[in-house]
Amino acid sequence: MTDPTAEVLQANRKLLDSINSQNWTAYAELCDPSLTCFEPEALGHVVQGMDFHHFYFKLEASSRPKQSIMASPHVRVIGDTAIVSYIRLTQRVEATGDPKTFASEETRVWQKQNGVWKHVHFHRSIPTAT
Ligand code: GLY
Repeated sequence: MTDPTAEVLQANRKLLDSINSQNWTAYAELCDPSLTCFEPEALGHVVQGMDFHHFYFKLEASSRPKQSIMASPHVRVIGDTAIVSYIRLTQRVEATGDPKTFASEETRVWQKQNGVWKHVHFHRSIPTAT
């Protein structure tokens, strides 16, 4: 594959799948170890490195179905860097058996390192009610 937009979207999809399936090996492989982020769990702080994220992958996995899609992703490639912005829609089955959908705003930054796209930064926030 030589289209950087398609490559980055594929890498981003793999990343979301690895999160939903709590596949740490796949997640860590896609990320640069110095990954930085803002996300709701970080309570307004920028978090650097992988340990913070590893915590969630080590929790007991749920057997209930869960999947995410990127709604209307926008990709901007700037040299060896790509910025992917989208609304992440996550569908999951609650403990009650009811299916629910959750939305989050995500911007993920990828850098091509030695021919491989690595995830280097993201910002995830919960959409404010209007
Ligand atoms: N919380 C991990 C991630 O969204 O990449």
